[in-house]
Amino acid sequence: MNDRLAPIILITGTDTDVGKTITTAALATALAATGRTVAVDKPVQTGVRGAEQGDVDEIVRLTGIRAVGEGIRLRAAMAPLAAAAHQQHTLPVLEEHLARVESLSAHHDHVLVEGAGGLLVRLTASGQTIADLAGALGPAADLLVVTRAGLGTLNHTELTLEALAHRGLRARGLVIGDWPAMPGPVEVGNHAVLQMMGTPLLGRIPHGASDLPGPEFRRRASTWFRALPAEPPEARGRERERYAASTGC
Ligand SMILES: Nc1ncnc2c1ncn2[C@@H]1O[C@H](COP(=O)(O)OP(=O)(O)OP(=O)(O)O)[C@@H](O)[C@H]1O
Ligand SMILES: [Mg+2]
Repeated sequence: MNDRLAPIILITGTDTDVGKTITTAALATALAATGRTVAVDKPVQTGVRGAEQGDVDEIVRLTGIRAVGEGIRLRAAMAPLAAAAHQQHTLPVLEEHLARVESLSAHHDHVLVEGAGGLLVRLTASGQTIADLAGALGPAADLLVVTRAGLGTLNHTELTLEALAHRGLRARGLVIGDWPAMPGPVEVGNHAVLQMMGTPLLGRIPHGASDLPGPEFRRRASTWFRALPAEPPEARGRERERYAASTGC
């Protein structure tokens, strides 16, 4: 990661439940620690009833960041289009998501936008996805892909990168959303292959990160990424060494 991350950072994943929320929280914290102002947006939140906690609430708890947006909140724990149909609701159009994200962007150095599920999940009634949001935002946005560490991740990651390439898009980086405390041969092997995919592996979030109290999460989040712009070069070097030593790669 470096100081050329775009003002808008779209966080997608190889699937649902891969750790997009925790990655969004960690990256928001890491960027805020460099002195930038950060906002977070979730265009479509499903699986929450009434005042139940959604992903942005979890991000507020972990990061302390208060500038958050949410496009639509749906009760059913289903994909956005299905959840909307279940409630006889219509999903917001892409322009509505764009307007909300751009409005947050006008007042913050970075806006982190967490998708729903994986890359090609439909976020609008007409079938647009977070890839379309990336296309509409152009160079104002970077896209990160959160991946799993275990079996199956290599295929899912390759498919996601290929789907992006097919649309003329490129991910800025990969992040492993849930890295075990004691990685076995599968995770270590996958880590090595993920590093060969031509998209930088920017970091990994340690298992258990989402259970940390906010202050502890904020103390540690920057160390889960390979490098941060505001760190002095010698600290960055030490962090890289620690990062490499802990994976055995
Ligand atoms: N690093 C981690 N340590 C511990 N638990 C984790 C970690 N990453 C993810 N989890 C757990 O896995 C589950 C899914 O993670 P998370 O909600 O971040 O996924 P997601 O990709 O944001 O899913 P969604 O598509 O629903 O937004 C959560 O219960 C979360 O607490
Ligand atoms: Mg999430």
